Amino acid sequence: MLSRVAIKRCFSQTSINPYKVSVLGACGGIGQPLSLLLKLNPKVTALNLYDLKNAKGVATDLSHIPTNSTVKGFSADEPDGLHNSLKGSDLVIIPAGVPRKPGMTRDDLFNINAGIVYDLAKETAKAAPNACVLIISNPVNSTVPIVAEVFKSSGTYNPKKLFGVTTLDSIRSARFLSELTQTDPTKDKRINIIGGHSGVTIIPLLSQDNLASTKLSAQQQKDLIHRIQFGGDEVVKAKNGAGSATLSMAQAGSKFADAVLRGLAGEENVIEPSFIDSPLLKDEGIDFFAQSVKLGPNGIKEILPIGQLSNEELELLTACKESLKKNINKGKEFVQNKK
Ligand code: NAD
Ligand code: LMR
Repeated sequence: MLSRVAIKRCFSQTSINPYKVSVLGACGGIGQPLSLLLKLNPKVTALNLYDLKNAKGVATDLSHIPTNSTVKGFSADEPDGLHNSLKGSDLVIIPAGVPRKPGMTRDDLFNINAGIVYDLAKETAKAAPNACVLIISNPVNSTVPIVAEVFKSSGTYNPKKLFGVTTLDSIRSARFLSELTQTDPTKDKRINIIGGHSGVTIIPLLSQDNLASTKLSAQQQKDLIHRIQFGGDEVVKAKNGAGSATLSMAQAGSKFADAVLRGLAGEENVIEPSFIDSPLLKDEGIDFFAQSVKLGPNGIKEILPIGQLSNEELELLTACKESLKKNINKGKEFVQNKK
């Protein structure tokens, strides 16, 4: 049997690095298509799927796809299922939790999802303390601080390796802008989005985008900002009780996971936005903020500046800060109350 080092050497000859990825909540609306996309990613050589049940079925199904990865399923009802699904992982992706129904905010999910993410983070901190951890479960503005607190309690917190996945806001902005400007959505024209991942905490910086700031009227810009901020609600309403975005989220999650893996593999100039432990507003008591980061072999290599904001965007930032601070503190307090 080849050792992990030998496998790495073997793969490096073909410029492919072997990475083990665990998906927690792998059988859900996001988990399944996300796992499919990860199975198709040549950088992923071991894919572990964990869920309350059915993970073995989903894993067996995916395992028949002829790509260079093994797929294993782990369920909550087997001894050490969660621990074994995490052991040795380079990347842990967490989409476990309940989605919204019409009329709900992401914060309304806190009571159920905070506990789910807390439990999963506790085991991740033990079984995969050096992994990059990607949080999809909502409310991201609160679940990311929960994971940070759990890792701090276990003495293994590395802020460079914790990511709230905000890529969906970014891919939506590219699509919506292309619809308005009749341009190709596949060309990279993602808008710089900062703040958090819910309603007014999402701040698309249209003033920094040449296309948006020159081709759109003031009203179109206002409408576009609103559509990006509330794009999630559009899907929740259309699904009418059957959940929230799953397929576009799987694409977004896969894109972000691939970026993190490219960074780990040493690729230069891999830049993506994410909700991270940021120094930007710490003096105002806001410890996490979404902004672009450069990814590298140890996770975040560099936190990039947010750039110049227009007066209107500064107003959006004021509204964002108020909500974001409450969301972050709610997550932190949840963990403190557990102690
Ligand atoms: P879903 O209900 O379809 O799937 C959730 C899965 O999590 C289920 O398979 C369930 O069994 C599993 N699960 C629940 N508790 C678990 C636990 N303790 N351990 C392991 N697995 C567990 O929901 P979904 O549509 O996949 O959405 C999942 C989460 O992702 C929601 O909180 C949703 O709000 C969030 N979301 C985030 C973004 C984002 O941009 N970050 C986008 C879309 C959805
Ligand atoms: C989204 O942006 O689609 C997700 O956060 C899910 C939701 O609840 O809107």
